[in-house]
Amino acid sequence: MNKTSGLQLVERDESGVDTAFRADVLSGLAQPQKAIPARWLYDDTGSQLFEDITQLPEYYPTRAETQILSARGDEFAEMIGKGCAVVEFGSGSSVKTPLLLEAIEPSAYVPLDIAGDFLRAAAADLAEKFPGLPVYPVEADFMRRVELPPEVADLPKLGFFPGSTIGNMIARTGVDLLRTMRETLGVGAKLLIGMDIIKDAETLQAAYDDASGTTAKFNLNLAHRINRELRGDIPVDALKHEARWNDEHARIEMHLVAQRDIDFAVSDERFTMKAGESIHTENSHKFDRRTSNMLLLAGGWDPIERWVDDEGRFSLLLAEARPNRSAP
Ligand code: AVJ
Repeated sequence: MNKTSGLQLVERDESGVDTAFRADVLSGLAQPQKAIPARWLYDDTGSQLFEDITQLPEYYPTRAETQILSARGDEFAEMIGKGCAVVEFGSGSSVKTPLLLEAIEPSAYVPLDIAGDFLRAAAADLAEKFPGLPVYPVEADFMRRVELPPEVADLPKLGFFPGSTIGNMIARTGVDLLRTMRETLGVGAKLLIGMDIIKDAETLQAAYDDASGTTAKFNLNLAHRINRELRGDIPVDALKHEARWNDEHARIEMHLVAQRDIDFAVSDERFTMKAGESIHTENSHKFDRRTSNMLLLAGGWDPIERWVDDEGRFSLLLAEARPNRSAP
């Protein structure tokens, strides 16, 4: 996002530095296990590289989720009903959202995104594909409770959160988000959410360390971004992309691993890395039926249905925000 955006959601100092980015990088690099929040991977270059990743032969999640959305439209229509307001957390991607909208014929579409430029582009795209459908884009951080447009107040709500983006979060943050979504959408709302499935480590590893090196580029772009935006001199050629399966936490971790002892500066602060030491840059948690259900329940959503693709690689879950009631 840049300075021309309508809402000022990015705070910059006098020299134009994104202060939240700098704070996250400086505190993250000062930790014993260096770590930087994954959201900083997604600048313009990173977002484009992620789009490229979704086309890779090894990266099955996008294709698998799209397959479920194409095959199960009748069931969605039956279980969700027509005429609701679809609230998408993150701007709609070009393929997935239309598949859902075609199936359930909603009365309104509300994309939520913090990046105003992507949001407006996605909203315009959708409005063109669905001429009769009112589209109400909302520029907001969906990690916080969002005030929905008054036009959808009386419609039943369906939250849509595809892509297994929930898997980027540790359980505590994911539960916070699910509870916030429940507040945003209200009791009685439904949620359709994508969750990638636990599978053999080789398949997972290949999906996050592809033969073409695109995921490596995506990860290394973070170091380039730090150098560019935070006056850094990280020797990027000394860093190597690594995708690790952490079985204990059921997640793929992306790391940038130092190939030799290095030292560098970022915004006038100095850091060192020993050969083999890493910067942890992303988690991608994987789920089975029980852990999916547990996460949803902890966030205030009762699971109703679970669909998987033909090859059992990816899941879409439907859940409902039921009223609080006493239980033993
Ligand atoms: C955008 C979070 C769904 O975790 O699979 C892909 C990001 N990182 N390859 C994922 C990602 C490396 C992706 N999500």
